[in-house]
Amino acid sequence: MARYEATVSAPVNIACIKYWGKRNTALILPTNSSLSVTLSQDHLRSTTTSSTSQEYEQGDRLWLNGREEEISKGGRTEVCLAALRQWRREVEDKDSAAPKMSEWPLRIASYNNFPTAAGLASSASGLAALVYSISQLYQLPQTPSQLSLIARQGSGSACRSLFGGFVAWEMGERDDGADSLAVQVADRDHWPEIHALICVVSDAKKGTSSTSGMQKTVATSTLLQHRIKHVVPPRMTEISRAITAKDFTTFARLTMADSNSFHAVCLDTSPPIFYLNDVSRAIISVIEELNRAALASGAGLVAAYTFDAGPNAVIYALEKDMPMIVQTINEFFPQSLDFPDPFGVLAQPSARPEGFNKAVVREGGWEKGAVSRLIHTAVGDGPRRLPDSESLLDVKGVPK
Ligand code: DP6
Repeated sequence: MARYEATVSAPVNIACIKYWGKRNTALILPTNSSLSVTLSQDHLRSTTTSSTSQEYEQGDRLWLNGREEEISKGGRTEVCLAALRQWRREVEDKDSAAPKMSEWPLRIASYNNFPTAAGLASSASGLAALVYSISQLYQLPQTPSQLSLIARQGSGSACRSLFGGFVAWEMGERDDGADSLAVQVADRDHWPEIHALICVVSDAKKGTSSTSGMQKTVATSTLLQHRIKHVVPPRMTEISRAITAKDFTTFARLTMADSNSFHAVCLDTSPPIFYLNDVSRAIISVIEELNRAALASGAGLVAAYTFDAGPNAVIYALEKDMPMIVQTINEFFPQSLDFPDPFGVLAQPSARPEGFNKAVVREGGWEKGAVSRLIHTAVGDGPRRLPDSESLLDVKGVPK
């Protein structure tokens, strides 16, 4: 039987300028532009196999991490599949020899190599992998920016995972969303020295989902109006320039300021939304103190923290400063899980900026497990097509 498939992986991205708020919830059109760093798939990725065959039983089927999920009518996944089928139909209309895949059922299996509940943007990499795998299966001519229009409707932040490197999601102006898409600001190789340390603060499922949290903010926060009109637009320009110029101090300053602005509008929501906890705030204090001491000794900023809709910290730093950052976090936040140390930073000599005041951390540091684990990664490339030997589906189209 004729059966076609494509397996891909797609990366996680962590925003420096945050997306928070929709002007159109059905099309997922944001109230402001945003910008993120794509993280390396060597450490964090979603892998997805999409397959189609005329012989499959009617109806599309989807498995996430081995469990079958319902594709609900009119839901986000169905919207993405319908849009991809439409583009496939255009291919078939132009080429009568092309198999009529747009009419056949789909089988999709996806898995994340990191815990979904850890709050590590699994929806972004997952949706990007879904869209990219089907675009490969259907041999679509669309560019990554065009594919991002579809991924955006699966989960807003997913549109930025269609590129590697440094990626902007331009909010656009149109009511139909045709100009609300991702563009690459710089690729990975422009600034490969950007590393990221993820401090997993809690493995518990997040309290308020991004989707419902941001709509409550749109409905009730007056501060959000100031943020979207006056704060984000100049920051988008400034951070893009900082990336082009590889100016880490400006990049870090804007990243921390925007994380704090985002959590401020969460607090300004009624009822208020709290994503940070005491451990998150303690990490902020340590990074702020490292930066204060570095500036005082005449150097630039050494690290930037940023937090999404949960308590986990992501710390951006230049590769040369990562041994010092990891060793500092290790000292004050001993983890419950072993650190795999993929870049071998624990064994490297390092010195904290002179004058660092240990008193910013509570006496004796935090109890073991306050940070459960560390993931050290770096800026990475965009979605990858994988060989069929990596397929997650068997010949019948069910997970292996
Ligand atoms: C805090 O993309 O998860 O991570 O579009 O409703 O699926 P939906 O929301 P989602 O929101 C992510 C919000 C954020 C900031 C960001 O990634 O820019």
